[in-house]
Order: sequence, then structure tokens, then C-alpha cells
Amino acid sequence: MPLNPRIENWSGKVVWLVGASTGIGRATAARLHAAGARVVVSARSEAGLQAFVQGHPGSLAIALDATDRDAMRAAAERIATECGRIDLAVYCAGYYKAMRATAFDLDDALRHEQVNYVGALHLLDAVLPVLLRQRSGHLSLVSSVSGYRGLPKALAYGPTKAALINLAECLYFDLTDHGIGVSVVCPGYVDTPLTEQNDYKMPGLISADEAARCIVEGWQAGHFEMHFPKRFTAWVKVLSHVGDWLYFKAIRQATGL
Ligand SMILES: NC(=O)c1ccc[n+]([C@@H]2O[C@H](COP(=O)([O-])OP(=O)(O)OC[C@H]3O[C@@H](n4cnc5c(N)ncnc54)[C@H](OP(=O)(O)O)[C@@H]3O)[C@@H](O)[C@H]2O)c1
Repeated sequence: MPLNPRIENWSGKVVWLVGASTGIGRATAARLHAAGARVVVSARSEAGLQAFVQGHPGSLAIALDATDRDAMRAAAERIATECGRIDLAVYCAGYYKAMRATAFDLDDALRHEQVNYVGALHLLDAVLPVLLRQRSGHLSLVSSVSGYRGLPKALAYGPTKAALINLAECLYFDLTDHGIGVSVVCPGYVDTPLTEQNDYKMPGLISADEAARCIVEGWQAGHFEMHFPKRFTAWVKVLSHVGDWLYFKAIRQATGL
């Protein structure tokens, strides 16, 4: 039983992806463009966005910093005016630096909070009035399996991703009666600029194109959560439900940390 209205026909659908100059966001934007959607891509990098538009005719680039609430509002108003509506808004902007409590960096922790979580609130502030007015559309937040439970080195990143999962669940309760779908995306490891810094072998690593395929299939099927690749994330899901003693022991053993 689908938890959201299925999005089966992308033709002419207006989709806005924030965090789409590289990686998962860009690959998802490309896939939706190929399926016939009218794609709007946002991120800070003007050059990255323009390169996308050149390769994907009919798409629109709006450069912005997601931590700037006014810029997010102005972008949503521009899309609603120029395209007439917003059918799907996706928050995939993200920032990650490994951090442990023994080298706590408050500024960097707050940077994670601003980009990964507060930026998502800015997207809500910008698109909720449009979606509620339409009484249709879909909101999707890109979290991570590292939001399920605490992990070593994820002191700054993990809590922001946990917050996004909780936020998506709260939104689901409030928006389904208004005809608006809500989903949360929890990838395992995906080969993007974000994970280039990892100096260890990432289990179950997939390409950004493969991640985009799983995400779009999830929207089409009406899922609330998309987690992938299942060969990795299914184990993380099981671990997220075990008792604390077993959880800490298993993660210590798996990571050596
Ligand atoms: N890769 C993985 O293994 C993995 C796993 C789980 C979850 N995720 C999540 O997936 C999402 C996409 O990450 P990715 O792996 O595709 O990394 P990525 O290639 O580094 O993409 C991050 C995107 O966010 C944009 N961005 C960063 N700061 C921004 C800001 N302040 N305002 C607007 N846009 C901003 C970046 O563009 P600009 O720099 O041009 O602004 C870029 O388009 C993130 O939320 C990440 O946490 C990734």
C-alpha cells in the first residue's frame, strides 16, 4: 500500500532540486529531465548549474545558498510564477566532515546544522505556501542511513541527518490530508564529491546514477522512505533496532573505532 500519491508520469511536472550542481542531486535532476519533467536546479555554484542547463535543454538554474532564507523564498516565488506550480521539491544540499568529540569544532558543527538542517527548513518556508495552495505536490528530504543511530566520526553530520528523518515524519502527519506527498531518502555510500574525502573502503558503494534510479523509483512507487543499496542498508536498518549493548559492540567491531 503506497504511503504517498505515486508520481508515475513525469511529463511536464515541475521539479525543484536544491543541491543539484553535483552528485546525487544532479544525477536525480538528469533522470527526471530525461523522463520529461521541467527541472529547476539550485546550488551555490553558478558554473555547475549552467553546465547542467546546457546539457539539459528547457531546465532552469537558480543559483543560491540554502542557508539564505530570503534567497530560497525568492527562488520558490520565481518558480511558481514562471512555471505555474511546483510538483516536487527536493532538499539534497549537504555538507560532511568527519568529526569526533576529541577534536570538537563548534563552527564546523554549526555549519553542518545550517546546510543540512536549517537549509531544509528554508525550503519548507519557501514551498509550503505554494504546495498547500495547490493542494498537491511532493516534498522530499535527502537524509542518510547515518541518521538512524549515532556513528563514530559522525558527531557533526549524524544528528543533522537524524533531524531530517524526524522532520519528514512530522511533515507526513501534517501534509497527507492536504494531498501533499512526503518522503525521506536514506542512502548508504554513494560515489560523489562528498565521499571523496573518505579514506576507507566504503561498503556497498554505488554510483550517483544508481542512487538517482532508486530515488525516482521510490517516488513512482509512492514510498515514504527510500534506502539503498539494500545489500548494505538492510544491515544498517537491522542494527538500528537492536539493543544498545549489541549496537555499540557491532559498530565498534565493524569500523574498528
Ligand atoms: N554520497 C553519499 O554517500 C551520501 C550518503 C548519504 C547521504 N548523502 C546525502 O546526499 C545529499 C547529496 O550529497 P552528494 O553525496 O551528492 O554530495 P555532493 O556531490 O557534494 O552534493 C552536495 C550538493 O549540495 C550543494 N550545496 C552544498 N552546500 C550548499 C548550500 N549552502 N546551498 C546550496 N547548495 C549547497 C552542492 O553544491 P554547491 O557546492 O555548488 O553549493 C552540491 O550540489 C547530501 O544531503 C548528503 O548528505 C550522501
